[in-house]
Amino acid sequence: MARIAVTDGMAPEAVLRLEKGGHDVVLGFIEHEDLLSGALNKFDAIIVRSATKLSAEIIAASGNLSVIGRAGVGVDNIDLEAAGKAGIMVVNAPNASTQSVVELTVGHLLSSLRHIAKADRGLRSGKWEKKQMKGTELSGKCLGLIGFGRIAQGVAKVAQTLGMEIHTYDPYLPPKVAKSQGAYLHKKVDTLFQTCTHISVHCNLTEETHHLVNESRMKMMPGKQGGIHCGNHIVNCARGGIIDESALLDALESGVITSAALDVFEIEPVSDDNLLVKHANFHGTPHIGAATMEAQRRVGFDIADAVLSGLNGKRPSTLVNGKYL
Ligand code: MLT
Repeated sequence: MARIAVTDGMAPEAVLRLEKGGHDVVLGFIEHEDLLSGALNKFDAIIVRSATKLSAEIIAASGNLSVIGRAGVGVDNIDLEAAGKAGIMVVNAPNASTQSVVELTVGHLLSSLRHIAKADRGLRSGKWEKKQMKGTELSGKCLGLIGFGRIAQGVAKVAQTLGMEIHTYDPYLPPKVAKSQGAYLHKKVDTLFQTCTHISVHCNLTEETHHLVNESRMKMMPGKQGGIHCGNHIVNCARGGIIDESALLDALESGVITSAALDVFEIEPVSDDNLLVKHANFHGTPHIGAATMEAQRRVGFDIADAVLSGLNGKRPSTLVNGKYL
């Protein structure tokens, strides 16, 4: 029997699956200081979402762990190398939340273009701003997807049915994949910005992608398409830090960017003095891309299976730090 800590919550059915596997599951957030002083020593596995950060120091203080499960896609809150060198497998659940993030991204795009959040804020404060809420259609516009993995491809499909032309920049993508999805693959990220009035971010946060959406690239966006001055619009439901938020605020203020919608931020939770989230042409959500009942159920099952497989001495198919083990 293994002891498994689940620190950031998990669907009850998935907890049951672990327990049915004969394991002892302990649910509850563990404070950073307690993790540093070895609170994980009595566990064989831990399952986290994004709130628990597993740094090299914490991993070094967690003597008995053999598996770390990330109930989600992004593993930027776990030191993969430190875990691997300590012989700990890190597994994730990369497929389970795809549809939920696709739907939130499309929701943000539609909300931006038709001022849904802004109009709602007006209504709540007693304003009837019909004239000010004239929007533009997604149809006939070029959507630039940074990264073209599962989520971006899902967004592309929906956007195509709405009449958008799909462009992408993904240096790791075989050109035939873009072609098969009817997307134009750009060799340079700059040409994507020069072509598209709508940009949605779908890559991981790495050294290479940190602040990839910056002042000079935002200024390259054309602001009109097919004779319509639709402005420039940016959505990010991937990871904070890929967009330079201070440059984005300046771009909203100067009108270079017409609307911005973010689900993820450089610093989460967002602080009270964050001026970007208060801008009239901004609307956001608090990192809820995967927060649907369906996704959380699938994420729970997928991560439970991956952790069980690791605890049984197998190499899980979603192992992410294999190169360090
Ligand atoms: C993920 O990486 O799976 C998502 O950002 C969701 C999350 O962290 O909660």
